[in-house]
Amino acid sequence: MINTLARAYAEDFPIGAAVTAAVLDSHDDILGHFNSVTPENAMKPASLHPSEHSFNFREADMIATYAGARKMKLRGHTLVWHNQTPDWFFSDGDAPAAAETVWKRFEEHIAAVVGRYRSYAYAWDVVNEAISDDNHSPALRQTRWLDILGPDYIARAFLSAHKADPDCLLFYNDYHETQPIKSLRIHDLIYNLKRQGVPVHGVGMQGHYDIYTPSLDELAAAIEHYASLGVTVQITEMDVSLYREGDKTSHEAPPEELLALQSQRYGEIFSLLRKYRRYVSGVTLWGVADDVTWLSRLPSYQRKNWPLLFDERHQPKAAFHRVIQK
Ligand code: GLA
Repeated sequence: MINTLARAYAEDFPIGAAVTAAVLDSHDDILGHFNSVTPENAMKPASLHPSEHSFNFREADMIATYAGARKMKLRGHTLVWHNQTPDWFFSDGDAPAAAETVWKRFEEHIAAVVGRYRSYAYAWDVVNEAISDDNHSPALRQTRWLDILGPDYIARAFLSAHKADPDCLLFYNDYHETQPIKSLRIHDLIYNLKRQGVPVHGVGMQGHYDIYTPSLDELAAAIEHYASLGVTVQITEMDVSLYREGDKTSHEAPPEELLALQSQRYGEIFSLLRKYRRYVSGVTLWGVADDVTWLSRLPSYQRKNWPLLFDERHQPKAAFHRVIQK
């Protein structure tokens, strides 16, 4: 029997990958390493709900059916976010919509989507990236949800999702989640939600890391900090970029010394996560192999990156061997 990542970590946590419907075919050769999937874009409001009275469930359904047929876990991603959410949620013709209208759309969207995938998704990223990156501004990110609905939108999102599927694990998900101030703010947000009795069960640490940061101490501190709230923790979108954040260099091919650093980082991070397995209930990579990664695709990057465990030809990288050997 071939050893897979999922099998190697069977005693620790499920190992997931973000997928598109196309990737289910093109990466079929290596998807057997994973026992969890997250639709990369297909369950975002812009994909599922392009206009008020029309849903487009096709790609999301394909992914859910694939996961179901292979007994893979499915993480739903994401219900309430400031990106990839169509304007119609917030407008009434050319004018801004009244708060009451936006509340109705917000609740109907959550009920419809969570309801549809109720027997498939065991977890949902209910609210994504609601905390500001600016340490000098108020903690909540300025978004249209906040502007129109006020800070209660976060609690209401969790309550609506819970109503639609009382068995589902509900996550708050964010990036830069190991930075001290942001992590305090995330902690306070979840603390207050829990104090009000809001059903929030987990913190999703996106895990968009690079070969230099965050440090293992920062990572450990963030996990402990979130776990101290009595919620579960998952790494929901992990990749390890070959470039430091803000670095503008670009490589045509991945330099060997950087791949070596990447493999060491992946190895160290996964051993830390295993050490914390009583708190960490899932680790998802944000992609399957280096030929399809948002880090090479986003217009703001316009350069290649190789952040995952399999290379562009789907061959296991040094990082893969480090992770699977534990
Ligand atoms: C955030 C979102 C993901 C994805 C990435 C970029 O992390 O949560 O869904 O859009 O940005 O691809």
